[in-house]
Amino acid sequence: MATYTGRISQRVLDVEMSGIRKFFQAAAPDAINLGIGQPDFPTPEHIKEAGIAAIRNNYTGYTFNYGLPELREAICTKLAQENSISHAPENIIVTAGAGEALYVAITTLVREGERVLFQDPGFVSYEACTVLAGGRPEGVPLTPDLRLDVEACKEQMDGARVFVLNSPGNPTGTVEDEETIRAIVEYGNDHGVTIISDEVYEHFIYDKTHYSAARYGDDVITINATSKTYSMTGWRLGFMAGPGEVIEEAIKVHQNCQTCATSISQYAALAAYTGDNTCVAEMREEYRIRRDMLYDGLLDCGFEFPKPDGAFYMFVPMEQKTFRAIIDAGVVIIPGDAFGERSAGYARFSYAASRNDIKSALERIQTIEGQ
Ligand SMILES: Cc1ncc(COP(=O)(O)O)c(C=O)c1O
Repeated sequence: MATYTGRISQRVLDVEMSGIRKFFQAAAPDAINLGIGQPDFPTPEHIKEAGIAAIRNNYTGYTFNYGLPELREAICTKLAQENSISHAPENIIVTAGAGEALYVAITTLVREGERVLFQDPGFVSYEACTVLAGGRPEGVPLTPDLRLDVEACKEQMDGARVFVLNSPGNPTGTVEDEETIRAIVEYGNDHGVTIISDEVYEHFIYDKTHYSAARYGDDVITINATSKTYSMTGWRLGFMAGPGEVIEEAIKVHQNCQTCATSISQYAALAAYTGDNTCVAEMREEYRIRRDMLYDGLLDCGFEFPKPDGAFYMFVPMEQKTFRAIIDAGVVIIPGDAFGERSAGYARFSYAASRNDIKSALERIQTIEGQ
């Protein structure tokens, strides 16, 4: 029998498995799941129909590596109309979700030992992709109300290669304001720091406005996906958009690990990006109701924290014993330290769960003594 001790890539060994999955595996069978970061709505009908039609029409072969021309065109129109970003189709690569786009972008941009910054707490893949690319991951601490501090960011940006900016943020739900985004992009671009802007939650903002980083500088890669916006996580369809010089190199990474995004999903995404967006507005309104329910309920239980503006998460400060008691009461939430080294003492709640589940979870949390 072959043994693989000492024979696995050191970069791979250096990546930790996401701390999120193990909580689902360990949960009691009747546990209420407020852990998962996945919309609980079905994919809208007209999008599913487009996927089904693609299969019936035998659009089941490889597409161009970059993606279907009409989809890249549609993404440019979306970026122009929704994000005030001007890109030509040549500036777009259609990927297998935002996850692949992040991997491709970081692999393309980062050389051995170069520093990659990201919000800490932040989405788990930024660190892992950096390690796989041979870069040095570096969390950017947030203020006590879980926002970026521009002056501190500027100091940390000196000498860095990339800043991955995520607003609305996972796990915080924070929506950064225009001045912060503009200041980080302008300072970064003036100092050789490429901004990778992960905007997958852009449509789930409740009282604020989304500002895309690429409005404020050229050295910006925009990453987005149909996953959250159209409740299409399993279709695996996203994109990266950026300067031609980067895209021309990035396509080599995409081509050699993915060839092309799934043809069927590309046709479905075309229907999503060119179709009526009422379905997105409906999902947003439902998330807003759930956010208010969960937030008010948690305040009633004695938790104190600022109301998050976006995504479908709340990052709630709590002691370890409270976290344990919530899990024991049969509510799955994720411990803060799954999202970075500075987040012990927090837990992430997701409200991508039905109102009924949120109500029952709050009832269970209410029963915890000393809360
Ligand atoms: C901030 C953020 N970026 C990217 C992703 C990955 O998205 P996708 O499913 O499109 O790969 C996620 C998924 O949870 C996320 O939260």
